[in-house]
Amino acid sequence: MKLLDTLKPSIYHLKKANIDEPVIEAAVLVFHVSGVDRLTAYRDNPEIGPVILSEIHRLIGRRAMGEPMQYIIGEADFMDLVIKVGRGVLIPRPETEILAREAIKEARNLKFIARGLKRNSGHVTPPVQQSPGLRILDLCSGSGCIALALAREFPDANILGIDISGTAVKYAETNAAFNKISNVIFLEGSLFGPVTSMPGFDLIVSNPPYIKTSEIDTLQREVREWEPLEALDGGMDGLDFYKKILLGAGRHLRKGGKILLEAGYDQAGEIAVITEKAGFKKITVTKDFSGIDRILKAEWPA
Ligand SMILES: C[S@@+](CC[C@H](N)C(=O)[O-])C[C@H]1O[C@@H](n2cnc3c(N)ncnc32)[C@H](O)[C@@H]1O
Repeated sequence: MKLLDTLKPSIYHLKKANIDEPVIEAAVLVFHVSGVDRLTAYRDNPEIGPVILSEIHRLIGRRAMGEPMQYIIGEADFMDLVIKVGRGVLIPRPETEILAREAIKEARNLKFIARGLKRNSGHVTPPVQQSPGLRILDLCSGSGCIALALAREFPDANILGIDISGTAVKYAETNAAFNKISNVIFLEGSLFGPVTSMPGFDLIVSNPPYIKTSEIDTLQREVREWEPLEALDGGMDGLDFYKKILLGAGRHLRKGGKILLEAGYDQAGEIAVITEKAGFKKITVTKDFSGIDRILKAEWPA
């Protein structure tokens, strides 16, 4: 059988299963299994054997059952990282890249200030002293995507990721090794549990579970049936984690340290109120690609 001949029945199978983009997804899976890139496939249309054919059937069958594409392929892209994912760990989302980018921006500013650099009419005066690396805490680190994006950008930073799920921590460690990043440690535990006596972080970043319990049933099948509930459920009002994180964060941040949080589509206003009540200052919000208030930033007062 020729490789391209497997496309039509695969598309048909996915269409029947109500998969949103059957043509694109069938092609991704067929080319993934065969190890042949799209261009070569269309130019040479190679012959395939029974092993490849049965693997194509198997993966198309998994996708038709609603399993997310990233779990089937085993990885997702996040910024310039390849993040290994599978059952038990949340697939990184595009809006979380905005959180990571904003965190990188903040870390750059904090590093700049810590080094004693002064902007002087557009010029930078030389460092007065070499500062130690930034200390960054990623709460609810999941696959490790945010911590790893920061670690790659700041090789001299000391980064700690904490997640309650042992499976997530294993994936995060695999992702650190796969991306050859060594300045991050992942610990299993609940929120600040593993760092109770550790003050002085420069930056705390988190994309916590934030879906209202009552809304879990309304999520896409791929999310609802396949991704871990503990990565999604933010309690009755979806704000459980923000309250706990913001109440605890002050004890772990240095003066002038920053917190960055990803917010659900309608939560930024409420989170800003909680943030202010917790004693933070300079609260700002960044929008996502759809114009939704998505990333909240605040400073622990100096
Ligand atoms: C929305 S996911 C975010 C994962 C990752 N940071 C990302 O952006 O893709 C939330 C994560 O919080 C973790 N989690 C849930 N409860 C937790 C707790 N009490 N302490 C630490 N992590 C928790 C889940 O296991 C999950 O990995």
